[in-house]
Amino acid sequence: MKGEGKRSRGRCLAYVAAFIVFQTAIILAFALTVMRIKTPKVRFGAVSVENFSTGNGSSPFFDMRLMAQVTVKNTNFGHFKYENSTIKILYGGMEVGEVAVVKARARARQTKKFDVTIDISSANLSSNSNLGNDIATGVLPLSSEAKLSGKVHLLKVIKKKKSAGMSCTMGINLGTRAVQDLKCK
Ligand SMILES: *[C@@H]1O[C@H](CO)[C@@H](O)[C@H](O)[C@H]1NC(C)=O
Ligand SMILES: *[C@@H]1O[C@H](CO)[C@@H](O)[C@H](O)[C@H]1NC(C)=O
Ligand SMILES: *[C@@H]1O[C@H](CO)[C@@H](O)[C@H](O)[C@H]1NC(C)=O
Ligand SMILES: *[C@@H]1O[C@H](CO)[C@@H](O)[C@H](O)[C@H]1NC(C)=O
Repeated sequence: MKGEGKRSRGRCLAYVAAFIVFQTAIILAFALTVMRIKTPKVRFGAVSVENFSTGNGSSPFFDMRLMAQVTVKNTNFGHFKYENSTIKILYGGMEVGEVAVVKARARARQTKKFDVTIDISSANLSSNSNLGNDIATGVLPLSSEAKLSGKVHLLKVIKKKKSAGMSCTMGINLGTRAVQDLKCK
């Protein structure tokens, strides 16, 4: 009878150990997925061009309106609430237009989408830019930058500061008046 008691106690300890291992695995999995806070991603979805006007020759210029879809991809298990910000469009590293992004939130595990309209112009570029050459080749290279600063909220109590940066490059094809090679990091 003694042996019997020892064996069942041993089995009981084995169950407890298995339970602890199982519990630890669950907590670990939870910590590695749900609790891990990732930086949301901001990108341009699609961009189209309107009110297009460019000049070739001795006084090159461009004036146009970009209609862009912006996506804020939040893969966290809590929402991302961001503050007011601006998206800037650059040509040759110089700003040629910007648009305000009003503060909002991207829900948990959701990609928020919204449209912006950005008027861009070469008016403020210095005259020694490479604009004449770019217009002559038929493709205007542009880039965009933005930083959405905000917080990821988890389980109602955890808040972690995260800022989502946007950095895209694209070319405006002056022949087709369409955006090509849109790439975002
Ligand atoms: C852009 O074009 C539309 C019509 O296509 C016109 O109504 C609008 O006033 C133009 N905007 C600018 C800034 O030229
Ligand atoms: C954010 O932008 C909106 C709209 O432009 C403005 O009314 C609001 O005061 C701004 N909020 C902050 C905190 O700057
Ligand atoms: C160009 O410069 C003027 C005067 O400094 C400014 O008011 C305007 O907003 C600028 N335009 C762009 C597109 O940056
Ligand atoms: C600009 O001018 C050059 C030479 O005159 C020409 O080859 C080119 O096609 C023009 N580009 C555009 C976009 O009109």
